[in-house]
Amino acid sequence: MSGTGTTEDASTSKSISKSKVTLDDQNTQNGSDTQENNFLTPELVQVHKKLSPRMKRHYDRFESNQERIAFLNAIMLEREQGVIFYNLQEKYGELFEIYLGSDRKIWLGNASLVEKIHNPSTKTKFPIRTISEGLDEMGVTTKGIAFNNDLVVWKFNRRIISSTIMVPSFLRQFVNESEKVFQEFENYLINLTKENNNYVLNFPDWSTRFFADAISLASIGKPAYMMATQYNRLVPKYLRSLNSKSGLYQFEEFLDRLRLWLKSIHFFYFVPRFVRHYIPPMNFLYKNPEKKAKVYAEIDNIFKGDKTRPVTYDDIEKLVYVEAAAKESSRLMPIVPSVFKRAINDVMIGGLNWKSGQEFFVHQHYIHHNKSHWPNPKEFIPERFLGDTNKIEKNSFIPFGGGIRQCPGRHLGMIGIKTFIALLFRKYDVSLEDPKAPLKKVYTLANECHELKLYIRPRKD
Ligand code: HEM
Repeated sequence: MSGTGTTEDASTSKSISKSKVTLDDQNTQNGSDTQENNFLTPELVQVHKKLSPRMKRHYDRFESNQERIAFLNAIMLEREQGVIFYNLQEKYGELFEIYLGSDRKIWLGNASLVEKIHNPSTKTKFPIRTISEGLDEMGVTTKGIAFNNDLVVWKFNRRIISSTIMVPSFLRQFVNESEKVFQEFENYLINLTKENNNYVLNFPDWSTRFFADAISLASIGKPAYMMATQYNRLVPKYLRSLNSKSGLYQFEEFLDRLRLWLKSIHFFYFVPRFVRHYIPPMNFLYKNPEKKAKVYAEIDNIFKGDKTRPVTYDDIEKLVYVEAAAKESSRLMPIVPSVFKRAINDVMIGGLNWKSGQEFFVHQHYIHHNKSHWPNPKEFIPERFLGDTNKIEKNSFIPFGGGIRQCPGRHLGMIGIKTFIALLFRKYDVSLEDPKAPLKKVYTLANECHELKLYIRPRKD
């Protein structure tokens, strides 16, 4: 391993493969042989083909091939960074370094390597994510929570959010509010399917808005009308929802919500991004009918066929198989595939000494697929999370990160997923429009599914 990390503990380092790579590695490995741009690798030829006319003009203005390669690399990195880093980790091992410009980043793909980063003590050497002029300019490094490097302000904000959204009374209220939001969803569904029993609903458009509306209602007492806006986009004007009224009312409502937003800035800063991209484990369930049957059986056992009684927090607590299925889908497809953290002191990781200031990427997606933690890592097996969960290796299942910056919305997130599944499945038969179609997702900073087409029909049993 080159670089400034120095080996101290040879026995630890032996078990971990370490390499130094640059992004060019990714591009030169297959060589290139195209007519038009023979200096480009096949991957970059593909990126070049998909350039918009504006970007193409930009590209053509570069004078050297080096600049062209750098430009296409940057675009590829933006579009496919999750896939690129996963492949690099697979190729170079559980600990590798990469230079992004002059910045050296260390990627960690084994649970044992992130132990120190996930130290929950306030004395941790990893209390911040990164130091970046760009983020400073955006003003987020001294405000809010997620990128706040001012630890006094962060601690204060974090305490507020934790005492709000992590307490059982809030979680109970969230279940109640979710039911109201679900009823609104059902009304839209009824209208959309009224004249077409084969109506296909693009699930991500609705599930993400459902969560946003439910969280907004539970936390600031006002709906965000995200589903109403989506519904109005799909239907003719005369059928539009009154929930998103036009003209002055909408403007007043907008201002009102803007004020609320500003008031709740500590709470919401950077939060919705995570919530926006979560897709409950539909695709995994529908590709595994036996697991899907178990989810239905558990829900039916709790509600005993009653499709309308209020769903309670206690019901949600009993849904252990649904929770296992949600966890397993977050293992296979964590919304946040990697999380970066910066050392504020010298630290030893993987048998190497690292200087204060070094940035590390905890590669959740890779750790979740690492064979040394998970047998048959690509298979959807919710049962991994049932029974004796002590056998799950520490830090090998980390969809919500870890350490002192671990996600404070983790309970809310899990309860939201379970509540939505319970509400939907106790009343509806849900099936994929095309069971053979691959999941359409973009894997960049977040794992985002943008298309999952479903039939949702009232259950006959
Ligand atoms: C399924 C849903 C969610 C997932 C998978 C998720 C995942 C994550 C992850 C991986 C982190 C980084 C943790 C780390 O640095 O180690 C994070 C941070 C954070 N999440 Fe979530 N999250 C979810 C839902 C939520 C919700 C519902 C909220 C609040 C309403 C929330 C609020 C936050 C905040 C404020 C941070 C920054 C914490 C800090 O820097 O101290 N998240 N989340």
